[in-house]
Amino acid sequence: MHSLERPCHQPTLNRAWPFKLCSQAPLKNGKKGCREVHLPFFLDFLGAFGVKIKPMPPPGKLFIYEIEGRVYPPDDLTGADFLGCWREGDHSYLFFPRPMEAAVKAWVATQEGARYSSESVMNYADWEAGQPLQKTSMAGFHLCPVWEDPTPAAGELVIRMEPGLAFGSGYHPTTRTCLELLRRVYAADGPRKVLDLGTGTGILSLAALALGAERVVAVEYNELAVRTCARNLKHNQRRADVDLIQADARDYAGLPAGLTLANIHLDVLLDLLAIPAFLTKDWYIFSGILGTQLEVFRQRLKETPLQEVETLHENMWFAVLARGGGSLE
Ligand SMILES: C[S@@+](CC[C@H](N)C(=O)[O-])C[C@H]1O[C@@H](n2cnc3c(N)ncnc32)[C@H](O)[C@@H]1O
Repeated sequence: MHSLERPCHQPTLNRAWPFKLCSQAPLKNGKKGCREVHLPFFLDFLGAFGVKIKPMPPPGKLFIYEIEGRVYPPDDLTGADFLGCWREGDHSYLFFPRPMEAAVKAWVATQEGARYSSESVMNYADWEAGQPLQKTSMAGFHLCPVWEDPTPAAGELVIRMEPGLAFGSGYHPTTRTCLELLRRVYAADGPRKVLDLGTGTGILSLAALALGAERVVAVEYNELAVRTCARNLKHNQRRADVDLIQADARDYAGLPAGLTLANIHLDVLLDLLAIPAFLTKDWYIFSGILGTQLEVFRQRLKETPLQEVETLHENMWFAVLARGGGSLE
């Protein structure tokens, strides 16, 4: 057994950066790819019809099994205990809340072209946010895990969260600074249509809706995150207000919106700024910019019609509020 190697670009909080897992070679094999999780379709189905879905508190520990080869485990591999499969290049990673080595090995032995590699164990808190998930208030939002009762202070907007294995519990500086900037946008204006690129758990979409947005298009390429986002939208009775699309953010950058949210890594941000149809919104919140990347980002921003309005930073992570010339709601 060994510890899974994870990137830690967050200098002081020892937090991982889950979206890097899809894009920046976080694992020891250094491959790129995305993860997929088999969350309960049945509960999702019920939730779509307004039936309250059962919250799933996170496990204390994650047991992660690395397999050489791209495998597609069945949902009944280990029953309800199977959290999901994440494929990175030509490796796959199976997630469980308890040790399952023998069962995984036995199943892998039946899969052509696959070979069991190793087991890793990590605390869920280290995976998601570096701290246990609990109620917290920030930027006038009360973020409350779905298995707890919200206790908002007067005037706080409640967002119910079940982050699962996706990014966006609210604890990461990149999310927090986006929430602050969202407040500023809605204090100055009221964009009705919002495009949330790299939605993760859906936290920013939910925050925008709570502030007055009427319609959100949320784009996310990671299947795990898409399903988690769908659950969070249902937990907040917002499923009908959001078009949730599993796709590359760059392919939907031109959709009309008054406000675009993009808490996503720098190479995608730079690609977005090079798409003419992306530059037609009124407001932009960019986040996920680390340290010296800010100058690279600013340089590219200056080559566009967008104007930087304000920049926040926390622990070396920068978030930029910008205005465009668009008038698309
Ligand atoms: C830093 S997280 C942000 C999550 C959430 N919006 C927040 O602010 O907490 C970035 C998300 O973007 C997704 N992502 C990264 N690259 C993407 C791409 N090219 N297209 C769509 N989604 C992408 C990741 O899977 C991850 O869920």
